[in-house]
Amino acid sequence: MLKSKKNIVNEISKLKKEKNAIILAHFYQVPGIQDIADFIGDSLALSKISEQNNAEIIVFCGVLFMAETAKILSPQKKVLLPDLEAGCTLVDSCPPDEFSKFKEKHPDHIVISYINCSAEIKALSDIICTSSNAIDIVNSFDENEKIIFAPDKNLGAYINNITGRNMVLWEGTCEIHDLLTIERVLNLKDKYPDAPVIVHPECKAQILAVADFIGSTSKLLNYTKHSKSERFIVATETGIKHQMKKHSPEKEFFIVPSDENCMCNDCHYMKKITLEKVLQSLEEEKYEIKLNNKLMNDALKPVKKMMELSG
Ligand code: 13P
Repeated sequence: MLKSKKNIVNEISKLKKEKNAIILAHFYQVPGIQDIADFIGDSLALSKISEQNNAEIIVFCGVLFMAETAKILSPQKKVLLPDLEAGCTLVDSCPPDEFSKFKEKHPDHIVISYINCSAEIKALSDIICTSSNAIDIVNSFDENEKIIFAPDKNLGAYINNITGRNMVLWEGTCEIHDLLTIERVLNLKDKYPDAPVIVHPECKAQILAVADFIGSTSKLLNYTKHSKSERFIVATETGIKHQMKKHSPEKEFFIVPSDENCMCNDCHYMKKITLEKVLQSLEEEKYEIKLNNKLMNDALKPVKKMMELSG
């Protein structure tokens, strides 16, 4: 017999207590997952909380690279990802063997990698950044430092533009953000001229050029909380709308669609996590993130450097 949503939520809550587990969720998760999470955040906040809490088990409601980062930062904890197929197109765009060859072509460059990469790419990097600290991390290096930025070329180009650097960019993108077009943004702007355009920096340069505000998911959410505007055009994944609406129920949010026929822009990887899978994950303690010790140690160094610079 199928369990009701209420029963599933109750069982999750009971098991969480019994097993001293915590549920972390990214803003792109489906609303039902965000509502049961102990903590919701952007990539940096989720990394910090995975290190700072006392739980024995972390159920990570996000994608694989996020769960891996939690494991790297907290190797003593059991980190579970409710669906192992929750991947990331940015991770797929940067295979470690090809990246190693790319690095060899630029032997005098240091490597700054966006957190949306595999543990192997982290291990090949000097420091990691997220969308919320990327500019500060890049600026922490001397302006003459030669830098490779991987894997997101849109974020890398944006940082080059803001900081005046000339980082060598790996040609990766997040499919979800890269599919958004300036035409769809401008269509919404025609309809709602008073609405500020707020954009995640993984979007293409043409979209960033018309943005009133650019930031990580947390920063976009904060902007909508504190702005006097009543409506917003939001260029990122649909999941963020749930918290925006929760914090500002009287305001309207228009997510830039990736497809003409809908107002949606869903990351199918993020949407793989369901309440049923979270319950199963807690019951059977699956799917446990396991990384070999050497890889974890090598990946920890650049992640730790970022954490030290991020307060
Ligand atoms: P942030 O939540 O750190 O902004 O990153 C979101 C993300 O992974 C976009 O693909």
